[in-house]
Amino acid sequence: MFFYGSASKKHNPKYSPLPLHFTTFKSRLILYNIILGIESSCDETGVAIYDRQYAIKYRKCRSSTLQSQTTTHAQYGGVVPELASRDHLLHLQKLLKLCLKKASLKLTDISAFAYTRGPGLVGALLTGASYTRALAYSLGRPCVGIHHMEGHLLSPMIENPTIRPPFLGLLVSGGHTLLIEVQALGRYHIIGQSLDDAVGEAFDKSAKCLGLGYPGGYPLSQLAQQGNNKAYAFSRPMTTKAGKALSPQNRFNFSFSGLKTEVKNCYQKELLTTKNDLEKEKIKANIAASFESTVAETIHIKIQNTLNFLNRRDNHPKIRRLLVAGGVAANRTLRLSLNRLSEQNKLELYIPAPHLCTDNGDMIAYVGWLRLNNKLDAGNTMNTQASTVLPRWSLEDIGTLR
Ligand code: KG4
Ligand code: ZN
Repeated sequence: MFFYGSASKKHNPKYSPLPLHFTTFKSRLILYNIILGIESSCDETGVAIYDRQYAIKYRKCRSSTLQSQTTTHAQYGGVVPELASRDHLLHLQKLLKLCLKKASLKLTDISAFAYTRGPGLVGALLTGASYTRALAYSLGRPCVGIHHMEGHLLSPMIENPTIRPPFLGLLVSGGHTLLIEVQALGRYHIIGQSLDDAVGEAFDKSAKCLGLGYPGGYPLSQLAQQGNNKAYAFSRPMTTKAGKALSPQNRFNFSFSGLKTEVKNCYQKELLTTKNDLEKEKIKANIAASFESTVAETIHIKIQNTLNFLNRRDNHPKIRRLLVAGGVAANRTLRLSLNRLSEQNKLELYIPAPHLCTDNGDMIAYVGWLRLNNKLDAGNTMNTQASTVLPRWSLEDIGTLR
């Protein structure tokens, strides 16, 4: 049975009419079976429908649509917030229609709605939140605001619905690098995080130094496949192997901002010695491969430190599962390194399919389903008093917001 930490407030089932999609989940009544989720926290508009019965059978959402804004922002080398809000507005209606069509459903078939409440860009969040809440209000359905990082964290459960805590979560995205201990769903303890650049940011900035455009994570990883990962010895930031003594909490924290400077300096130095284009491409590939394996090794060391610490405590259940999500979880080298780590530690490893690693509506619809059917609603199911969006919102505060 699901246990959501600090679930206390009674859900208020005053919505009318209630959709007639009742089923039971482990002998409990499921009130909201078909959830439409909307993601709009940054530069991807995602609309998806999570249908519990369909998901149990096929291990995926009943339908999923996504509009990426990368071409809109690429010319600026990063996300332009005002353009992001406008783009969400432009595409939401089209994606909603397409999503319903793909699922062969009507809007009135939807039991409840979910949207990304935070963290993210305020204008982008407001666009998705207003749109979703208006839809829910017009149909008299519940609407729940979801924490974007909880969406990422629990996204492996879409494909593996039997996963249960305790587990360790690794979130590696463009804005976050987090190691999270999960003893119960909804109760999240951040063990380690980046003190400066997130790992995705390090990929993007290093790719920019190598002239690979934005967002650079994927092109850098493609280039790295042609390179030699031992060509350059970049330092592994904030690991004991970097030759420095670390404070106890920094054994689990990350720092990636120095790495892009190393990449930049290395590339500029190498360019001084060659004018040959083919040679330059070789150098770039070698730098990309060396950077990528440095990142993977650093993350490997940090997870090992965390597991050693967590599993050495008395009176705590041992961590035997590792869930990985966020855009950088799509990285092949990182996935291979995490596979090795899991074998060494006899861990069950769960990494979602690449389309579930980057931002998507599926994870929002899924966590909406979890929260609504577990009577924990992040404080704003049809509650007009609750703030609609929270651009800054810690994952640790999620259960306490009412
Ligand atoms: O989770 P996400 O889609 O958005 C945020 O919430 O940030 O993550 C986007 C990040 C970007 O920094 C992007 O460059 C990186 O994920 N990324 C990758 C790969 N695919 C996306 N980084 C490394 N290797 C990849 N294959
Ligand atoms: Zn994200």
